Amino acid sequence: MSKKIFSGVQPTGNLHLGNYLGAIKNFVELNNDKQNECIFCVVDLHAITVKQDKDQLKNNIRETAATFIASGIDPNKSIIFNQSKVYAHAEGSWMLSCMTPMGWLNRMTQFKEKAGKDKEKASVGLYIYPILMASDILLYDATHVPVGEDQKQHLELTRDIAQKFNKDFNCKDFLKVPEPLIKKNFSRIMSLKNGLKKMSKSDPSDLSRINLTDSEDEIINKIKKAKTDSLPIPNEEQKLKDRPEAENLLGIYSSISNQSLDKTLKEFGGKNFSDLKNELAEILSSKIIPISNEIKRLINDEKYLDKILLDGANKAEQIAGKKIEEMKEIIGF
Ligand code: AMP
Ligand code: TRP
Repeated sequence: MSKKIFSGVQPTGNLHLGNYLGAIKNFVELNNDKQNECIFCVVDLHAITVKQDKDQLKNNIRETAATFIASGIDPNKSIIFNQSKVYAHAEGSWMLSCMTPMGWLNRMTQFKEKAGKDKEKASVGLYIYPILMASDILLYDATHVPVGEDQKQHLELTRDIAQKFNKDFNCKDFLKVPEPLIKKNFSRIMSLKNGLKKMSKSDPSDLSRINLTDSEDEIINKIKKAKTDSLPIPNEEQKLKDRPEAENLLGIYSSISNQSLDKTLKEFGGKNFSDLKNELAEILSSKIIPISNEIKRLINDEKYLDKILLDGANKAEQIAGKKIEEMKEIIGF
């Protein structure tokens, strides 16, 4: 069955191994299936829910597009664009905001995490961020949305919003209810310094993550310094319980080598972490360095990237512009 795929990544710098294994690697697989229609969006309107530096934002938009292409997304096959270029996203977000109960947003755990202790100071944009995400997805009639595990709750909200809109305006099946595509395993890559914390762009320690622009030396050094525990590597999954750092490193190894955790445990069970770390640094380097080099090459070609983003926005506008007009008609404008 052909799928309509939509996903987004924020241009907030430091794209890392978690973004790659949790999301972008799956984008590439979906892009490679001829039957799928894919749209990959650089969600710059989402990025400004927290303060951004103007020049850095511009660079990060291009770098995120470069990362998509360097990872293997073909801009001739899939649409790549940045969100702020297509007005329908913000307009749709407003209309959906007007029929989304506050109670639904109050449950969103990402807002609670990002707003921190002083919620009164967080921007209203950060609070309604998941409605903009729903607008992104619903404007394209996306059937499937590939994301990491942390976005599961936002996708459930998107489904609820679509169903409520269709019911409130008596327009059955107008907004398509999308399915999340979240890999069962390895959809949550953890910090190299703390196996209980998500690998994140905003972690102050660069040693906590492998950036997609890291050099081979940086990758080797970060894996060498990654936190482990003092027990040997087990040979059964059950024995990884309460050993989050061991589980994370073995998970990363499995994911990047496209093999099951079980197979990785058979390979390394009984060995020391130094053996795993040597192999892990090697395979990570072999997969990440070509991407890193290609990102560095592409970001110097601003003209090319801007053309991809502009062509993508024109194609996206055709689809989203039509949907937003239908939405307005349904609402009574
Ligand atoms: P963001 O950088 O927040 O825009 O996230 C882009 C994509 O990467 C989303 O699909 C996230 O779910 C995914 N992602 C971000 N961090 C991780 C992580 N540590 N592990 C797995 N997936 C992640
Ligand atoms: N909220 C997502 C994240 O932080 C990014 C995003 C915005 C997205 N719009 C989307 C993901 C639409 C999938 C579909 O990772």
